[in-house]
Amino acid sequence: MPGGQQVWVVSGYDEVSALLADARLSVDKRHSGGGYSGFSLPPALDRNLLNMDGAEHSRIRRLAAPAFSRRSAESLRNAVTGISAATFRTLDENASDTVDLLEAICVPVPALAIGELLGIPADRHGELRDAATAMVTFDASLNGSAMRLVEAVTWLAETFTNVVRSKRDEPGDDLISGWVRARDDADPLSEDELVALAFLMMLAGLENAVHLCGNIFAALLTSKDPLGDWSGRRREIIEAANPLPFAIRRFAVESLTIGDRTIPTGDTVLLSLFGADSDPARDGRPSLMFGRGPHYCLGAQVTDLIVDAVIPELFVRYPHVRLAIPESELEYRSSWRAHGLVTLPVTLAR
Ligand code: HEM
Repeated sequence: MPGGQQVWVVSGYDEVSALLADARLSVDKRHSGGGYSGFSLPPALDRNLLNMDGAEHSRIRRLAAPAFSRRSAESLRNAVTGISAATFRTLDENASDTVDLLEAICVPVPALAIGELLGIPADRHGELRDAATAMVTFDASLNGSAMRLVEAVTWLAETFTNVVRSKRDEPGDDLISGWVRARDDADPLSEDELVALAFLMMLAGLENAVHLCGNIFAALLTSKDPLGDWSGRRREIIEAANPLPFAIRRFAVESLTIGDRTIPTGDTVLLSLFGADSDPARDGRPSLMFGRGPHYCLGAQVTDLIVDAVIPELFVRYPHVRLAIPESELEYRSSWRAHGLVTLPVTLAR
C-alpha cells in the first residue's frame, strides 16, 4: 500500500463473490492485526454500516433498508430527473466555451439527489453542493483542501443533526423520516446512529456516483458515436466505468485459505470487484460492482436513476460536445481506492 502496509488482493470472480459474503472476513477496523489506520471519521460517524459486522450491522440495516422502498421508483425518478434538468439549465445559463463537467454536472446532480432522498431542505442545497465539492475534490497536497474538507464534514454533521431533529416533529416522505420512525422491538435508531447513517449516504454514495458519471462521460466522449453506443451497451459501459475497483477493506478474523495461500488472522484483504468482473471465469454471471451479501450497496437503484438522468441529457442538449483536451491528457486521481477523474474539461459547442 502507499503507506507501506502489506495487504492481500483477491481478484478471481468465484473467490471475490464468495468472500463478499464470508463471515471470516470483517469490515471492522478493530479486527486489524496490523493497526490498520485508514480514513477515520469522528467516532460517532465512524460507527457506520461499513465498519460493522454481524448482528450489529444487520440491526441497523434492517431498520434502515425499508425506508429506501417507501418512495415509489417513479416519484424518485421524477425527483432525480428534475434535479438533473435544473443543473443542466444552470449550465446553459452560465455556459462558457469550456466547462469542467465534473464540477458542473457530476458533483451537483448526485449530491442534490442524495440530499433530496435524505430530506435535506431545498434552501440548504447550495451549501450541500459546496460541501460535496470539498469532499470529492479533497487532495492533501493542495493548500486549504484539508481545511475545506473539515468544514464540509462539520457542516454535514450539524445539518444532519438538525434535520434528524426536525423530522421527529415534521416527518416527510424521505429516508431520514423513515429511519426516525423505524422501530425494531422498541429498539429505535439512536441520534448518533441516525446521523451516522445519513453521513454514510454521502460518504459511500457521493464519491462513487460522481466518479461513475465522470468515467462514463469520458468513455462516451472518446467513442465515435457516443449515444449510439450508449443505448445498446449501457450496462457494459457502466461496469467498465466502475469507480470503486475494490470493496471496502476486510480483515481476516481467523486464518483462511484462498487458492493455495493461507491468510493469517488480522491481515488486510482487498476484494477486487473490478478484477472479478473482468475475470473470464465470470462467464456472464452478475456484476459484483455493487458488492454482494450483507453489505450489498443500498444505493444501486438510485445510481441507475442518476446515470439515466444525466448521461443522455448532455448529448441531447449539446450534440457537438467534445473533450477540450486530448484523451491522453485526462488526469485521474492518484488513489488506489477510487477510479475517478480530477477534472473533465469539455467544449460544449451546440
Ligand atoms: C455510483 C456507484 C456506486 C458504487 C459502484 C457503489 C458500490 C458499493 C459497494 C461495492 C458496496 C459494498 C462495499 C463492501 O462490501 O465492502 C456499497 C455499499 C454501500 N453503498 Fe454503494 N455504491 C455506489 C453508489 C451508492 C449511492 C449513490 C449510495 C447512497 C445513496 C450508496 C450507499 C451505500 C451504502 C449505505 C453502503 C453500505 C451498505 C452496508 O454496509 O450495509 N452507494 N456500495
